[in-house]
Amino acid sequence: MSSKKVLKELKETVKYLQKQYKHIPQVGVVLGSGLSNFTEEIEIEKEVPYEKIPHFPVSTVEGHKSKMIFGRLSGKRVVAMAGRFHFYEGYDIGDVVFPIRVMKMLGVETLLLSNAAGSVNPSYKVGDLMIITDHISLFTPNPLIGKNIDEFGPRFPDMSEPYKRRLIQLAKDIASENKYDVKEGVYVAVTGPTFETKAEYKMILTLGADVVGMSTVQEAIVANHMGLEVFAMSVVTDIGIRDDHNIITHEEVLEAAKHAEPKLAFIFKELIAAI
Ligand code: HPA
Repeated sequence: MSSKKVLKELKETVKYLQKQYKHIPQVGVVLGSGLSNFTEEIEIEKEVPYEKIPHFPVSTVEGHKSKMIFGRLSGKRVVAMAGRFHFYEGYDIGDVVFPIRVMKMLGVETLLLSNAAGSVNPSYKVGDLMIITDHISLFTPNPLIGKNIDEFGPRFPDMSEPYKRRLIQLAKDIASENKYDVKEGVYVAVTGPTFETKAEYKMILTLGADVVGMSTVQEAIVANHMGLEVFAMSVVTDIGIRDDHNIITHEEVLEAAKHAEPKLAFIFKELIAAI
């Protein structure tokens, strides 16, 4: 799609949402698979199902509630996406990141992302939380391919600090004050929808990564392009490298995410207060 058309659609979407909700959200939150209960923390002022939002794709994945939620949390106005769009669902990469651009145009300054991820770091366990300090996005299409949208940012964006050190430090402080053991590491993005083969998990470890997942980096890239501050956190839902026979299922991923969710929700909530 041409960049002019993208901008036109974005403006229409933003206009529609601004009619639904009159306030300016400061923080945007995207909730990963099995992590949507965070929305219960929000004092909800308005919910808009994706199917009602012009130009929004409709999420197809089980475990996603698929709506935009506007409200107050920790003294701030927030907009949360319960359910994101994944490349493996068949959407264009532009559709995957469309809501992030919408958030920016609504006034969001800080973006919090969460996801379920598989671990290749031998010291990680299922249920661990990991602050993403950096990512490797070389296996998924870059959402900025195509004519640059100059209104959003430069043709060649710097990616030396995709996840803001300031936010990482705040999250670490919150975790240590509450005696939560939180890891820090590198996330590799893959397209999915297959989980990785044993050889692929090994390769991911060799690349210098700690976890692997099917989301987040495309959103982080467009957010950085537009100058949003980004923070992202993974819940380790499965272990990629194990000696035993290792079958990974979506159900197991959702179950593990559900168990770890309260801690993640707590950190997000406190982080929003501290921003
Ligand atoms: N690989 C890729 N994506 C994932 C995984 C995994 O092991 N677990 C949750 N999302």
